[in-house]
Amino acid sequence: MTSNFISFIYRNRIVKIKNLDPNETLLDYIRIKLTKTGTKNGCSEGGCGACTVVLGELKDNEIKYKAVNSCITFAPTLQGKQLILVEDLISKDGSLHPVQEAMVNYHGSQCGFCTPGFVMALFAMFKQNSKFKDDTIRDSIAGNLCRCTGYQPIIKAAKSLKNKKKFDQFSHNQKTTIKLLKKINKISIAIKTNGKKYFAPRYVSELKKLLKKNIDADLLSGGTDLSLRVTKERQDINSIIYMNSIIDLNFIKNNDQYIEVGASTPLIDLEIYIKKYYPDFTKILKRYGSPQIRNVGTVAGNIATASPIGDCLPLLLSLNAQVILKDFKKTKTLNLDSFFINYRKTKLKKGQFIYSVIIPLFKKNKFKAYKVSKRFDDDISSVCAAFNIEIVKNKIQSVRIAYGGMAAIPKRANLCEKILLNSLINDETISKAKKALEKDFRPISDMRASGVYRMEIAKNLLEKCCIEIKENKTIGVYA
Ligand SMILES: Cc1cc2nc3c(=O)[nH]c(=O)nc-3n(C[C@H](O)[C@H](O)[C@H](O)COP(=O)(O)OP(=O)(O)OC[C@H]3O[C@@H](n4cnc5c(N)ncnc54)[C@H](O)[C@@H]3O)c2cc1C
Ligand code: FES
Ligand code: FES
Repeated sequence: MTSNFISFIYRNRIVKIKNLDPNETLLDYIRIKLTKTGTKNGCSEGGCGACTVVLGELKDNEIKYKAVNSCITFAPTLQGKQLILVEDLISKDGSLHPVQEAMVNYHGSQCGFCTPGFVMALFAMFKQNSKFKDDTIRDSIAGNLCRCTGYQPIIKAAKSLKNKKKFDQFSHNQKTTIKLLKKINKISIAIKTNGKKYFAPRYVSELKKLLKKNIDADLLSGGTDLSLRVTKERQDINSIIYMNSIIDLNFIKNNDQYIEVGASTPLIDLEIYIKKYYPDFTKILKRYGSPQIRNVGTVAGNIATASPIGDCLPLLLSLNAQVILKDFKKTKTLNLDSFFINYRKTKLKKGQFIYSVIIPLFKKNKFKAYKVSKRFDDDISSVCAAFNIEIVKNKIQSVRIAYGGMAAIPKRANLCEKILLNSLINDETISKAKKALEKDFRPISDMRASGVYRMEIAKNLLEKCCIEIKENKTIGVYA
């Protein structure tokens, strides 16, 4: 069934909206059309968390509560979801939600501008976790900035939640909400408003038909890159196909040889799944944007963006990943090695889409990855490095090293790899391999780091990796 209006759940009823502009942000919809002004606008680029709202989505007959940045979410993507705003946390009898109460009791708010965003980020944590460990709290608010409190009162407020009853009005209404979500979450969307088109197919088969007729449409996954064209560059996107509504693209599976990640799988799911196989992959993903970004952003979007500082990319290159591309007729498998052509240019053709990513499992290898950025949380890499090394009888038997932030594209360190191959890990090898990096890369200087600093970091990360492998332990906590 295809509809030209979108339906979502708000305050336990189905809301239908017609004639939504496909480029309207959820934040504008909330503040202007719903006239709920608790949700704030701080940056319009997903960087401050002031606009955080929570979306309830049905998965395996349960509601998953996800914090998202409403400033970079297009309103039509609300289709089939439950919208929860800071205003909705107060019960009918006027009592505060445990999260709000904790923020009051621990003085978690001063000027108050960031407070609704923090409350919603903590609300998502409260609903999704049974224990509020220190790192769970830290992770949950990594995407929210506060310039007044120094964060400690907010962290104390969050810690106090472990003594609160988990049952709230959302638990009370859960059965009704699930029933309503089931009514609306099986609908495909086709909207034409203000000369713009928006499609949200449910299946790959529908996507292929849409692509055939709308070859110039922009594919929208998490929108954590694409939406900034509207919110920051003030451009219109005239034709959008929403990928994250496609259920048969949202999967992670594995066999003995590899993991396959469907294009619309949120990064947050990959972060949990891959920990067992590659703990350092998870370590990097934990520092990728914020939970608000990873709740919607996808590995396919990261690959298609082809940014030199895309964090998944050096990791995937070092793991010899492949991308499965499809169009309305054919399927093609490409090694990621040959996928990036130039700055933000890939081999993706019009009408093609990334179907999935294949990540081989190197069971005998050491896989290590490091990210260096100005800030620990929610910051773009100055340099990101990944090392996939097999050692047999103290010698390096195979090696794949890739860096982000060192060239116009994420790139392998071919000469450095040559030096390391068949060598023992000792001071002499490390020194030669570091020197080889100077031939592999000519990093540029920009606002994030100078070229000289980048080269120094790249060399130091290589050395750190070699020492950690040799000593079989992790050194330091930062990278
Ligand atoms: C606040 C903030 C913090 C960020 N932090 C980081 C970070 O730490 N590390 C990092 O690497 N990036 C970061 N980013 C960048 C962004 O998250 C990535 O580029 C992201 O991976 C894009 O994925 P997406 O699903 O949101 O893609 P979208 O924004 O939806 O799309 C990005 C591009 O990919 C194309 N595309 C999407 N899906 C497909 C598909 N299936 N097939 C073909 N093309 C497709 C789109 O058409 C578009 O051109 C950050 C962004 C923000 C706003
Ligand atoms: S307004 Fe800053 S993250 Fe949305
Ligand atoms: S209380 Fe003022 S920005 Fe957080």
